[in-house]
Amino acid sequence: MTRSDHLNSMFRQKYFPGFSRTDLIQFRAYYMTQFKTQKNLEQKVGWNSKKGQKERFEIFLKIGELNHQKLLDIGCGLGAFCQFLYRKKISAQYIGIDLFPEILQTAQQMNPQGYFEVRHLLMKPYPAGRFDFSFLSGLFNIQIQDNWKYMKSILTVALKQTKKAVAFNILNRELVFQESNRFSVNAAEIVRFARQLPVRQVKIFDHYHPVDLTLFLYK
Ligand SMILES: C[S@@+](CC[C@H](N)C(=O)[O-])C[C@H]1O[C@@H](n2cnc3c(N)ncnc32)[C@H](O)[C@@H]1O
Repeated sequence: MTRSDHLNSMFRQKYFPGFSRTDLIQFRAYYMTQFKTQKNLEQKVGWNSKKGQKERFEIFLKIGELNHQKLLDIGCGLGAFCQFLYRKKISAQYIGIDLFPEILQTAQQMNPQGYFEVRHLLMKPYPAGRFDFSFLSGLFNIQIQDNWKYMKSILTVALKQTKKAVAFNILNRELVFQESNRFSVNAAEIVRFARQLPVRQVKIFDHYHPVDLTLFLYK
């Protein structure tokens, strides 16, 4: 199978529950366009500012002791979280996965201390309990046909392959400027949703960033 066959087989609706055909085409085009046309690294992966990207990582640190742990960064983009951990002198086994080889090639060049691979968990999950912690920053912000269905699928797999906890962030509907292509939630509904996943404890954080909520799902 050539690289482009592999990519095309990954971007099929059966691996993206909750996406319409149009959603999938637009999703792929959005990330490729951002990467190719934006100048700043954080804007290349869809963030407005470096400050906002870093605030999201800072809150992730509250999840537990990360030193000497196995970490999975799902939707790692250019590996900014890997760089953030390195600067904080956190020594961990870091793996970053994303859907776009072009993005990951740059991520690997910029972060030789990390390991990056093209992978979609719903097509090729890791074995159960492979990681101590998994992180998803910015994965759920694009509006699709059924965001809840997509989140449930991804988080269920993430929880299965993670021993201790999974962290993710999402836009806060109370605060976010309503844009038609952005998905946002209120705190009560996202906590209710998270409690239905196979978790022991849910923690939620707000006010660390102007428009975001972060959840920790402990097993
Ligand atoms: C907003 S960017 C954030 C990148 C990075 N987490 C950061 O904070 O700098 C979201 C990233 O998730 C990736 N992505 C989206 N859905 C994904 C999925 N199902 N599996 C892996 N990566 C995904 C996109 O390609 C993009 O690079």
